[in-house]
Parts: sequence; C-alpha cells; structure tokens
Amino acid sequence: MDIKKVVIIGSGTMGSGIAAHLCNANVPVTLLDLKTEISEKAREKIYKSKPPLLLDKSKINNIKVGNINENFNVVKDADWIVEAVVERIDIKHQIYKKIFNERKDGAIVSSNTSSIPIKVLSEHLTNDEKKDFCITHFFNPVRYMGLLEIVKSKNSDLKKINKLKEFCENELGKGAIICNDTPGFLGNRVGVYAMQVAMTEAFKMKLSIEEADTIFGRPMGIPKTGVFGLYDLIGIDLMADVLKSFIKELPESDEFHLVAKEIPLINQLIQTGYTGRKGKGGFYRMNKTGMIKVMEAINLETGDYSVSKKIDLKLDKVNLSELINRDDKYGEYAWSVLSKIIKYSSSLVPEITKEFNDIDEAMRLGFNWSKGPFEMLEEIGVKNFFNKVDNFDGNNFLRNLSKTKNEDFYGERQKYTNIATLGKEKKIAVSLDVNNSAKIYKFNDYNIVEFTTKANALDYDSMDALKKATDKPLIIINESMQFSAGVNLNYVMDFVKNKDFKSIEKFIKYFQETCKHLKFCDKPVISAPSGLTLGGGAEVLLQSNFVVSHTNIVIGLVETIVGLIPGGGGCKEMLWRWSQTKNGQNDPDYAPLKVFDIIGYGKTASSPDEALPLLFLTKKDKKIMNRNNLLIEAKKLVESNKDFRPPSKYTFKLSGNTVREKMHKILDKLYEEKKILEHGLVVGKELAYVLSGGKTNLNKSLTEDDLYNLELESFMRLISKNKTQERIIHTLKTSKPLIN
Ligand code: NAI
Repeated sequence: MDIKKVVIIGSGTMGSGIAAHLCNANVPVTLLDLKTEISEKAREKIYKSKPPLLLDKSKINNIKVGNINENFNVVKDADWIVEAVVERIDIKHQIYKKIFNERKDGAIVSSNTSSIPIKVLSEHLTNDEKKDFCITHFFNPVRYMGLLEIVKSKNSDLKKINKLKEFCENELGKGAIICNDTPGFLGNRVGVYAMQVAMTEAFKMKLSIEEADTIFGRPMGIPKTGVFGLYDLIGIDLMADVLKSFIKELPESDEFHLVAKEIPLINQLIQTGYTGRKGKGGFYRMNKTGMIKVMEAINLETGDYSVSKKIDLKLDKVNLSELINRDDKYGEYAWSVLSKIIKYSSSLVPEITKEFNDIDEAMRLGFNWSKGPFEMLEEIGVKNFFNKVDNFDGNNFLRNLSKTKNEDFYGERQKYTNIATLGKEKKIAVSLDVNNSAKIYKFNDYNIVEFTTKANALDYDSMDALKKATDKPLIIINESMQFSAGVNLNYVMDFVKNKDFKSIEKFIKYFQETCKHLKFCDKPVISAPSGLTLGGGAEVLLQSNFVVSHTNIVIGLVETIVGLIPGGGGCKEMLWRWSQTKNGQNDPDYAPLKVFDIIGYGKTASSPDEALPLLFLTKKDKKIMNRNNLLIEAKKLVESNKDFRPPSKYTFKLSGNTVREKMHKILDKLYEEKKILEHGLVVGKELAYVLSGGKTNLNKSLTEDDLYNLELESFMRLISKNKTQERIIHTLKTSKPLIN
C-alpha cells in the first residue's frame, strides 16, 4: 500500500494541520469542508500560520480545496481518507457512509477523533470496511507535536496498520504508537489525569496558581505552562468537554473520577467568557490599562485577580528526589502529584497497554515532558519510592515491583519504534562523562555530547564537554526540545553584576577557541539539531563540519536583538559562506552587506528549507523529517568520513572603510526613518566594524583569528554598555527582547 494521494474531510484546526504536514512531505492533499469557502480560508490560514505549519511557503501548492457536495469524487482516487470533522458521532457516521460508497478498494479510512471509541465510530461498517478503518489521532499543532496515536480495533488489518505506521514515521516524521481502543488512548488518558491531579491538589493544598505552575513545570521536566497555564492554552471550556467524555466512558471504579469532579470556579469562568487565552482570559489574564499591560493571576479561593507573582524556587535542574523530599508545601505538593501520576499510570498496565514504556513515550511526544511517569519512578529510585508511598492495592505493576525492588526494571527505551534512536543508544554507551551542563556518551567509534541545561543554554561547561569529546568523531545531539537557545545570558550577567568583564572576555575566548577546535580538529563534528538553534547554538552548528537537521528547527544569529553581536565566530562563518557564492566572489562588498542584513535584523529560519537561502545551512547538510532518525543519519556521516580531513583555513579580503561607509549609510537611513533607535545604531556600527574588517582601509588579508578578535572586541564594547545590559535583563525577566 503506497500513500500517494490523501483526502481530508474537515478543514478546521486539525484537518488543516494534517493537510499542511502532508504537504511538507510532498504528498498531494485535497481538503474538503461543508463549503469550498471554508476550506479555501483554511488554506489561507495555513499559508499565513505562525509558527508556520509549512516548511516553506511553496509547499502550499500541494493542497487543493473543495466541498463535500460537489467535489466528493476526489475520494475515489485517494489512498488514505482522513476524517477530521467536529466531534459529533452523527456527523461522523454520515461521512463514513459517503466515504465507503466512494473510496477505492483497500483505501485506508481514519478518524482524528480524540474521544470517540473506534467501536462506536465503526458500528455501521461492514466487517470488510472495518478492516481498513482506524483512528489516527494527531496532536495540535500537527507539524510540531511528535505524537501520533494509531488506534486499531479487533477487526483491523494489522498489516495495513503497520504500513500506515511506517508511512507516518518515515514520511511524516511522527512518533507513531499503536494503541488499543480505550478512552483517551494513552497520551490524553495519562496527560489529562496528570493535569487534573495537579489542579485538584493545588485547590486542596491551597497553593496559588503560580506556585502550582512553578512546581508542576520545569522542576518536574514538564513545560513551563504548568497546569493552569496549559488549561488557559487549551481552552477551559474544551477541557470541561474532555472531562465529560472521560466521565462518560470510564467505569466508576477508575481513579480518574476522583480528579474529574466539577469545580465551581471553573464553571463560573466558562459562564463569564473566561475560557482561557482565546477568551477574556482564564486562570491568568492580561490586564490592559492604557499602554500598560499587567499579567494577573486568579485566586483559587475568591476568584479575584491580582498581579501575578514570579515564584523562584532556585531549581534550575530537574532533580525529582530533591524536589519530593523538600520539607515544605512545595515538596509535599510535588510528591502528592507525582506519586498519584505514577500510581495511576501503572494501574493501566497491562489492561490498557502491555508496554509501560509506550506511556512514557506518549508523554514525551504528546505533552513534551522530558520524562514519562515510569522514568520518573526510575529516577526517584524504586526503594525510595516504596519507602514513601502509601497503599497501592489492586495495582499489580506496583505490587510486583515492590516485591522485586528491581532498580533496573526499566530496560529499553522507545519500544514503539524500530529506529535506533538517541534514547535507545544513550543507554548502551560504553562510558559516560558528566559535568554541570552536558553529558558525553562515549562509544567505540564516536562520542555524543548532549547539553543538559535549561533550553540548553551554553556556558563554560558546555564548551568544555565539546572540547573534551573530540578525541573521536563527535555528534552533538539532544533529546530535549531545543538544540540550544544560545549562550547562557544569566551566566554572563552574573559577571556583569560584579563588573568582572575580564571573566566575560575569558569565556567568549574559550567559546571561540572551542568552536574553532570543532571546525579544525582532525575528527569530524556533526551537529544534529532540532528546535531552537539560536545565537551561540547557531555558532556551534555553523562551525560543525556536517549538519543533520530536523525539519522543526528555528535557526538564527539573533544577538543584535539583545544589543550584542555574535562573538563566537558567527559573523566570521557567515561572512565566509557568503563570500563563497558567485556574487561574493565577484564583488568584495557583497558578502559583508548580505551578512550585515541577516545578522543586523536577527533573521531566523524556521525550517531547513528556509535556512538554505540564508546560508545557515548548505546543500550538503541533511534535512530529516523524523527526529528519531537524526542519530542514525549522523552516524552514517561518521561512517562515511573515516578519511576525514578538516577544512583548510581561509583568509578574508575585506574592503574596510569602503564597505563600512555603505553600512553606516544604511544605518543612518534606518535611524532617520525611526526604524532603529540610538542603541540600534551603536549595535549596527559594531556589526559594521566586524564585517568590514576593522579599523583601517584594508588591503591586506585577514585571517580567521583576526575576525574572531574583531568579534570579541565589539562584543566586549557592547556588553559594557548600560543599554545592552538593560535589554538582556529585560529579556531574561520576560523572555521577550526589549527594543530601545
Ligand atoms: P474544528 O471545529 O476546528 O473543525 C471542524 C471542521 O469540520 C470545520 O471546518 C467544520 O466546518 C467541518 N465540518 C463540520 N461538519 C462537516 C461535514 N459534515 N463535512 C465536512 N466538514 C464538516 O475541529 P478540530 O479541532 O479540527 O477537530 C476535528 C477532530 O479532531 C475532532 O474529532 C476532534 O476531536 C479531533 N481532535 C482535535 C484536537 C484539537 O486540539 N483541536 C486534537 C486532536 C484531535
């Protein structure tokens, strides 16, 4: 079964998300809705979506649109028909009748339902039709969420289901987990339960919503939206519907009922239009008075709002044992929530799934947790867990584990896929070297460096790990969401606070030295990024010998946004890349001006397709749809580069004053037009200084070291400026750059 053409019925959030993603895989799609205007609008929305659903805008040409009355005959040619209409069984039944009348023999039909059991969806189908029917439950936003649950029934043709899984893994890049027909499947069953526990315990223990979100967030390896923030994001009304469906489907004995009771405050929020971010606000709301915006948080007891408070537990790293053993309400809350999640998840084994491992992976891929409940149990330690936990009657999994106390109960990772993933390979490394910011996994033929800080921000230790790991071919890759959001600005600002600029200079020099070493050492260095690859993260990538990039990459040298310029070789490397182009070779000012534009505006690319024309990536770099394949592809490069020779050093011929004056003219115009302010002008001039080759009117050639030195010089001048420091502090506080 080859999937060459797809029809999607229903062009709402999910239908258009799935259509866009099929386009990314170059599979032609027809999107049908009640009226062509609706699917046309959906197509426009896909085109303009932010963050973009398309890898590059030209992919939109793979989508045709139409309506279910006049254009339904397209179903005849489709190899796969996806139903993504509203969650109403009567409507879905009508659609299936139409589809099965029209479809060609053997074409797969699937529903994107998140809550209707397959036995109900397929109750009017013949046994033959049931063979080709399944649920394909994608998560929103489809391009970015890794999880796809494929739900089979007892009638499903398993060969076909496996083929579909293969297609979704290889072509669409999804982590496809085959599930049984049970309410909420795996991801939502555990994910929604976890949210409900986190919420009800917060009410019970009288925690503020900020406190709950701070604990049930980064310290647990859970995204920082926490629980109340996530409720606002999903929609409080939608969550209420989800809960109703769980209550309806699950037997009364299921522990889910204990955490799914109606909460008066939630009813009140929904009735008054406080449905979350899409409504007037939710648990959090933005209060605007004139020009001033203030984030407010609700009081769970009174329902009143007041200015949201930042809770700083000074926990930068995930350390579950430390967290659950804290002698305060936060420790108590963390333990109460975590132990309940572990108990509930393990109560689902083996009835809901035989593989506890699948639950963990569903939580990673569908909810962006860094570890699933069973890995959390492994991290806490089996003995420690049972020393602390109260009753677990009727829970076979925990009863057995309490007897064996086997600390190594976990075994292999990511059993849902045959791919040799980073998660699997890490576990079989020959040895492991760890520092505060990175881990080096050593194998016989290569090393892996995985950064381990928040957003993989880079500091001295990250560089140290990279440098140490180049005794063999090196693969820089990680499992967390971001490759690296750049240099750790907190780290830099700590030095600034103490007026210790010497230490900053030392760090930047070490950063440069490391990147230079990555590029010129005699073993190949391969970066395999996914997610944010910004600033210093991009500099590491740019100075690696090879790149294997996941399609969901956001790459850019964005230093100017915080009032700095790239100081780790980013300016130099981009200058080199652009000077190698045809135009660059004919005109000495072409490359400097191009790079001035790219770095000056802090341009970013949100896919490898967009990164190519900016030369953040080059033609020889690989783009990979399934993140699980990054390691395999990187290892292929290790294999094929046994005779690796580092690139030769290069020299630059820059025209100095001539091109710098051109850049200054551009800056002056932008300043006159009020497109940049005073400090923008200062930053722009420093960038011009570096890219033009420094002080004088040059005739001589510049080496790479000269360029590194110029970057350092300008970086140090900028970091000492109050305006730059202000911008950095603002960005660190709000995660948003201050433009002034
Ligand atoms: P939506 O409300 O955004 O879109 C539904 C679309 O179906 C609308 O464009 C509507 O005009 C169209 N429609 C209604 N009746 C139709 C008919 N008879 N023929 C053709 N089109 C028809 O809904 P959404 O959120 O995209 O959900 C679709 C399905 O995906 C539902 O089954 C939902 O449970 C499921 N789902 C939703 C997720 C989400 O985050 N929104 C996540 C995972 C699954």
